[in-house]
Amino acid sequence: MRVLGIETSCDETAASVVEDGQRLLSNVVASSMDLHVQYGGVVPEIAARSHIESINPVIEQALAEAECSWDDIDAIAVTYGAGLGGSLLIGVLAARTLAITKQKPLYACNHVVGHVFANFLTSAKDSPALADYNFPAQPPAFPMLAIIVSGGHSQLALFRDYFDYSLLGQTQDDAIGEAFDKVAKILGLPYPGGPSVGKKAIDGDPLKYVLPKAKLDGKYDFSFSGLKTAVLRLAQAEIGEDYTFPSTKLAERLSEAQKADIAASFQRIAVETIVDKAVLACEEFQPKSVVIAGGVAASPELRRQLTDRLPLPIEFPDLKVCTDNGAMIATLGCYQAMLGQPAADPYSLEIQPNLSM
Ligand code: KG4
Ligand code: ZN
Repeated sequence: MRVLGIETSCDETAASVVEDGQRLLSNVVASSMDLHVQYGGVVPEIAARSHIESINPVIEQALAEAECSWDDIDAIAVTYGAGLGGSLLIGVLAARTLAITKQKPLYACNHVVGHVFANFLTSAKDSPALADYNFPAQPPAFPMLAIIVSGGHSQLALFRDYFDYSLLGQTQDDAIGEAFDKVAKILGLPYPGGPSVGKKAIDGDPLKYVLPKAKLDGKYDFSFSGLKTAVLRLAQAEIGEDYTFPSTKLAERLSEAQKADIAASFQRIAVETIVDKAVLACEEFQPKSVVIAGGVAASPELRRQLTDRLPLPIEFPDLKVCTDNGAMIATLGCYQAMLGQPAADPYSLEIQPNLSM
């Protein structure tokens, strides 16, 4: 079973071919991030316009690198939510058109569930484009605890089987990736904030500042907006100003050493907030595996804390399948097809920008 996966929920136009839900044949990603950096965040109109320009070449390249013709493709999978409306629309319309003209079944994929399924990839075709991918030795076993950490989501989910899962908890306000992005802005570091805060934190002392961890009623719920405000107040206090001092002017007054210490202290606490709950969930639900999913899964600090603190060994997906990509959608589409999940109607599939798990 070979599935072409198409992902356009945010700023990445991505397509990939995956075989049997575990072998990567190609993974092509065209990002419009360079165009958004100057605005400090993704501009939906610019993202949608870039998808229009990139979608056909990206799909063609994904097929070419997989050495597949349309005859070799058994189904098409596409992200239909959650994401930016204009962005989702381009991928879904492309997938619907191809499903109709090439007469392939179409599978509608949830972006967040797709991130989780990237963990089922265990090998890649022998090709130069995929030569430096690292994979876990085995696919994760059920029950599986999924730690979902992206720019839009922070959730813990327990998967009893591929499509039998329940949400244990989630953020009550900002997602962890969003908190990284906002702290980056305060410190004058480039967007996206996850990698830039992570890089700055290398030179900082993670124990320099004590920042708060939110206490919530839900045992597995998170909150990051208080932490973000605490970083703002800390930065203002460090330069001797009060809460009225504008956040946009802080970066020019903070020294590089102060920025590094704030980045490191924030990163430690933000990641600890997630890892504390994951450890608690391991104790209560005794999963056979733990996986991480979403853009923040690329964080070395998250990987370090999980390796140190989880009561069971954890294997990590390759960084290239953690941030948005088509492989995760092709993988999810494979399982939807292989396990008999209903296909979508290519004449009527609609986008769902606010789709939840
Ligand atoms: O999953 P993703 O690519 O897009 C969404 O579905 O949201 O996640 C994007 C988020 C951004 O907030 C970005 O700052 C964060 O993932 N991110 C990272 C790293 N790379 C991306 N966070 C921490 N460390 C990283 N290396
Ligand atoms: Zn994502």
